[in-house]
Amino acid sequence: MSDLIEAILKRRTKKPSTFSEKIPDPSIIRECVKLSRHAPNHHRTEPARFYLLDSKRIQKIGKLFGEIVAQDRSDPQLIERGKKKAQEWGNAPGLLIITCHTDRTSELVQKKPAVIEEDYATCCCICQNLLLLLENKGIATKWSTGPVWEHSKFPKAIGLSSIEHEYVVGLIFFGYSQQELPARSLIPLNDHLKDYT
Ligand SMILES: Cc1cc2nc3c(=O)[nH]c(=O)nc-3n(C[C@H](O)[C@H](O)[C@H](O)COP(=O)(O)O)c2cc1C
Repeated sequence: MSDLIEAILKRRTKKPSTFSEKIPDPSIIRECVKLSRHAPNHHRTEPARFYLLDSKRIQKIGKLFGEIVAQDRSDPQLIERGKKKAQEWGNAPGLLIITCHTDRTSELVQKKPAVIEEDYATCCCICQNLLLLLENKGIATKWSTGPVWEHSKFPKAIGLSSIEHEYVVGLIFFGYSQQELPARSLIPLNDHLKDYT
């Protein structure tokens, strides 16, 4: 199998709790981020922004997400879930946050509102590129959309560049995992493909 096919089939979401303590070399992550940006991008808006966190910031993000999960702290079950999430997220060896930057007041978006969705689509292509590149380096990932950005302290915690124009596409947890998962089995292609050739 080619490296690409192997990465596509082997990439599975791995729980951060299965990651070892070893922190992947940031230079590997930077290289993968650099490559991942080569994705289709209508109007060449380059919408993706990246925040590669250190362990202090990862812990902070975990704490904030724990608080989101616990809501107003009136439900003991949610408090417990929040504690678990804070621990799971906060102990992750690596976290990269990917946001999408689209200025909705710009002339381009005013003229072509589809840019908003197209920018998101580009960011998703970049995310998948990144997951495959990391998989290829033996680094496991989990793409999460746990809504930590709903916390008022989130923008400051990551130094968000533009509160007005950026939103989170994914929190990519990464690390080394021994967990082996088989390729996901999917609905037969013929159920989802009309092939007129
Ligand atoms: C946009 C997006 C958001 C996701 N958010 C979460 C999440 O918040 N929590 C979670 O456990 N998994 C999340 N996932 C991972 C999916 O649950 C996972 O991809 C799915 O179960 C299929 O498994 P696989 O990635 O191993 O093929 C997300 C995936 C995508 C693409």
